[in-house]
Amino acid sequence: MARIALSHVGKVYEDGTRAVADLNIEVEDGEFLVFVGPSGCGKTAALRMVAGLETITEGDVRIGDKLVNNVPPRDRDVAMVFQSYALYPHLTVRDNIGFGLQLRKMPKAEVRRRVEDAARTLGLSEYLDRKPRNLSGGQRQRVAMGRAIVRQPQAFLMDEPLSNLDAKLRVQMRAEIGKLQRDLGVTTVYVTHDQVEAMTLGHRVAVIRKGVLQQIAPPQELYDRPTNLFVAGFIGSPAMNFLSATVLRDDNDQYTLEMGAETLVLPPSVPVARPALAGYVDKPIVVGIRPEDIEDASIAGRQPGRTLPARAELVEPLGSDLMVHLSMDLPQASGHEDIAELAEETGEGGVAIADERAVVVARFSPRSQVKVGDPVQITVATEQIHLFDATTGSAVWDA
Ligand SMILES: Nc1ncnc2c1ncn2[C@@H]1O[C@H](COP(=O)(O)OP(=O)(O)OP(=O)(O)O)[C@@H](O)[C@H]1O
Ligand SMILES: [Mg+2]
Repeated sequence: MARIALSHVGKVYEDGTRAVADLNIEVEDGEFLVFVGPSGCGKTAALRMVAGLETITEGDVRIGDKLVNNVPPRDRDVAMVFQSYALYPHLTVRDNIGFGLQLRKMPKAEVRRRVEDAARTLGLSEYLDRKPRNLSGGQRQRVAMGRAIVRQPQAFLMDEPLSNLDAKLRVQMRAEIGKLQRDLGVTTVYVTHDQVEAMTLGHRVAVIRKGVLQQIAPPQELYDRPTNLFVAGFIGSPAMNFLSATVLRDDNDQYTLEMGAETLVLPPSVPVARPALAGYVDKPIVVGIRPEDIEDASIAGRQPGRTLPARAELVEPLGSDLMVHLSMDLPQASGHEDIAELAEETGEGGVAIADERAVVVARFSPRSQVKVGDPVQITVATEQIHLFDATTGSAVWDA
């Protein structure tokens, strides 16, 4: 096991495409680090540079204390697991798992022992003599994992290993990979564009956009303290709602957000936690509100400064919640480049409303009686509000 350090790593392909720029990440020994980001953001390119499958255009990659920029993949002591499991169809499960060891001329008895150990760990013992075509998708995925495990590498590098599985199996295998990594304690870098996988598996998650690292943090911190609009909108489903507002402050230092004809009053904790907010008085700001921070006012209670009028355009009962798409007479912050890109990526923020009212998604209690077409008062958990610079998209925190 080892730590992996990327310092100022960049990748430019021969045709001039820049896939990764100035990536600085230290993966701790035994850590499970996830790279997440939209398609084409450079996740695979970054991982392949660690694996040695792609040349490193700029910067250094270290595994353990060793600079590996010019070390061929087989000498880096890392094991890759791909989306396509790349199993040999004519070999049995046993030989698929042991193939790499046999290639290294490991004694037969040792190969046997390691393969059988791995098979036991992965619940594959009874399938050792089968061919891959006679296995389920999940079992094939486990064989691919087995091949990585028997090598006892310094690190696992996994590129969307679950994306060929159906939804139910993905959830199951996700749990298995998490447990396996905990049991083995092997440093792991895991690539996915699925934010649920990222959040559930990662000790830390690195959010990448257009080749550039946006934020690297434990999952809950990404969720609670996203560093910019992009991370805020990318992490969380349904996505955070974004609205345009002007920041006002009265003589008693009370802050309000003016949004069209409506206002939200901010509890004192919001400016206290954000010294930089003082610099936005009388200026535009982007307000972020997560769906779970909006409740039907008939349940949460009407509270001056927190309750706004809306109309229910779509009501989706999920059992545990009611997902309600609301139209509101407020300025939506759809103009910002990051928000436009996010809408494209997630397919959200798209319910077109003819009169250009803002569309806001709320997660109501299932006890709400709201029906499509109803006017409804909503109450916002204003202490949970997120605030972003309208120009740069950076979260507003410290001055
Ligand atoms: N061989 C290549 N030559 C030129 N450009 C490439 C090459 N391989 C990848 N790219 C480009 O590099 C960028 C990053 O690609 P990469 O495969 O790392 O994305 P990704 O984040 O893994 O996306 P996905 O989630 O779709 O797998 C993309 O713009 C891609 O088109
Ligand atoms: Mg990829």
